[in-house]
Amino acid sequence: MAKQVCINCGSTYDVNEIVYFCRKCGDILEIKYEYKELSKALKGSDWRKAPLSVWRYRDFMPISDASKIVSLNEGGTGLHPCLRLAKHLGLRELYVKNEGENPTGSFKDRGMTVGVTKAVELGVKSVICASTGNTSASLAAYAAKAGLQCAVLIPSGKIAYGKLSQAMIYGAKVIQVRGNFDQALDIVLKLSEKHRTIYLLNSVNPFRIEGQKSLGFEICDQLNQEAPDRVIVPVGNAGNISAIWKGFKEFHELGFVKGLPKMTGIQAAGAAPIARAIKTGSDTIVPVASPETVATAIRIGAPVSWKKALNAIRESKGTAETVTDEEILSAQKLLARIEGLFVEPASASSIAGLIKLVENGVIDKDERVVCVTTGHGLKDPDTAVKMSEKPVEVDAEMAAIEDVLGLKRAIEVMAR
Ligand code: F0G
Repeated sequence: MAKQVCINCGSTYDVNEIVYFCRKCGDILEIKYEYKELSKALKGSDWRKAPLSVWRYRDFMPISDASKIVSLNEGGTGLHPCLRLAKHLGLRELYVKNEGENPTGSFKDRGMTVGVTKAVELGVKSVICASTGNTSASLAAYAAKAGLQCAVLIPSGKIAYGKLSQAMIYGAKVIQVRGNFDQALDIVLKLSEKHRTIYLLNSVNPFRIEGQKSLGFEICDQLNQEAPDRVIVPVGNAGNISAIWKGFKEFHELGFVKGLPKMTGIQAAGAAPIARAIKTGSDTIVPVASPETVATAIRIGAPVSWKKALNAIRESKGTAETVTDEEILSAQKLLARIEGLFVEPASASSIAGLIKLVENGVIDKDERVVCVTTGHGLKDPDTAVKMSEKPVEVDAEMAAIEDVLGLKRAIEVMAR
């Protein structure tokens, strides 16, 4: 029922063939289904009774053997109504889909559960990825669970500590590359072509995108079978915005939702080739040679899925925006302080983008908006500590605490 199809020339490949780029034109691939057959299969399935999770949508996934599923209980993350933030911005209805609630703390787990399951189905023994941190943490965990060998390439000195610690403790071979993410990705792409026994699990792998599309399905199901008016997503290598759009489109195609959201991509100002292409109306991107941003997860200058992302944004009549590091950090703090949601800087870029687009009048106050926050704040504790008020250190005495809290001293109270 499923096949791999080139997004450019339409060449097709068997769902069990290991191929990352079209052999005819070199473009990237996506998974396509026979929707009539899928629709029939869904009628006989009780998928709606399963709890919210990636595997609730098993019928929509290109996996044939359920016994091979490698799962750590991914998906089913909260869609948090943000009443205080909505009021602050004058918006009618605002939600945060908080992907930090996944098993390794980011949305990557949605793709990895499907990608690593596919690896097991294919019988490969060893997996690899390049990463700004979260992909490596997630792949390392799922590879550990599946008993596969795992190697991850990360940019030297430029990934958040929480993510590095995850890849290390899950037992991956962690290779720090003296260079940036784009250079590391270029190496793993070539390496996995040359050494065919190593399976590549970057988001160019369309099976990962299939898992990540469940984010779109879940939002519809959490809004009682309605699509929001707009979904705002941080964009780095550009797989996620493409995946979420695919999810919405499939639900729409199958008749589960009537509307479709405007996909809105947010990039850090120092790493924004996709936002620039959207703003200039270009059909192609100009890679950024030395991307820079405090949001290290999206410090990417040559996104591999750029074409899918441009299609998603344009097809959905959405838009893209850039945000500065200052705007990202201030949005991170605001979200933590008025909604109790601690997300990493890259994730806060969706909130920073929301604020900017509301201020610029691009987002209408009556829209129903969902911001995706992609990773947990504890992934990058250093940045959070650096930008917050330092703890106050005092002697272990009640009076000292009272001074700090601006309360009357204990002795005075007791004397009364
Ligand atoms: N947010 C976070 C927290 C991420 O880790 C990433 C990507 C993105 C957003 C952007 O998603 O690449 O699909 O557009 N992180 C990758 C990694 C590149 O290696 O962990 P995208």
